[in-house]
Amino acid sequence: MNEPSPRFWPIFFELYKSLPRQGPGNRACAARALALCRDLPPAPAVLDLGCGVGGQTLHLADLISGSIVALDSHAPSIERLRATVAVRRLAARIQPTVCDMAEPGLPPASFDLVWSEGALYNIGIEKALQICHGLLRPGGYLAFTDAVWRTENPPPDVKASFEGDYPTMGRVPDVLASIERCGFSLIDHFTLPDEAWWDDFYTPMEIRIEELRGKYRADDEALAVLDQLAQEPEMHRRYSDYYAYEFFVARRVE
Ligand SMILES: C[S@@+](CC[C@H](N)C(=O)[O-])C[C@H]1O[C@@H](n2cnc3c(N)ncnc32)[C@H](O)[C@@H]1O
Repeated sequence: MNEPSPRFWPIFFELYKSLPRQGPGNRACAARALALCRDLPPAPAVLDLGCGVGGQTLHLADLISGSIVALDSHAPSIERLRATVAVRRLAARIQPTVCDMAEPGLPPASFDLVWSEGALYNIGIEKALQICHGLLRPGGYLAFTDAVWRTENPPPDVKASFEGDYPTMGRVPDVLASIERCGFSLIDHFTLPDEAWWDDFYTPMEIRIEELRGKYRADDEALAVLDQLAQEPEMHRRYSDYYAYEFFVARRVE
């Protein structure tokens, strides 16, 4: 792969941190996954790993009582969540935390529910599942989304576009095997519908890219980065039959 422009990451973060969320997902899917966690206590202790600016954290706070530790390694995203939490007067229930999920430094077996949308793959799915296992009390729930291939042989250009970020991306049975290997029993899984990619993610992303094209209209290097970033929603329009986001809900074996 070619070296990215030095402008790539600053513009990437400028774009992503302004979006309602940083990956596919929506409130309806969060509610569906949560409904599968049938034996949660009335006010569960929840950990949201890789929360971004907290799109799903805020849905969770709305859907359940209890407290949520919302953790992400990207400090500006956590700053934005902190501001939202203050405005919505949720500081007693949501604790935004800058931290690497690989070394969370949280007490073992201290959560009733570990949640993570589109983030566990960053440290490798099995390593992440082992960390989640250690943080959950026995019988605690794990709910997470992960990108999966829908076919054996995706077209080379779509395969290449995932290879940089997600070289180990597998199919649903591969993730199910990891879940079992890491000491969980599966409750259920379902595929995110197309609107979960667009409503809070790609539609606002395309609007924001147009705004940034205006801001950077005299800056060819920035415009080239924006063209590159615009390829992701475009790829989804063309190739969404070949990959999906899957919601998995499992329970730590006692
Ligand atoms: C695809 S985004 C998903 C964000 C959010 N869960 C959502 O669905 O909108 C992945 C998030 O994982 C975070 N992340 C990546 N590596 C991480 C790590 N080692 N520890 C904590 N967060 C991490 C990124 O900063 C980013 O916010």
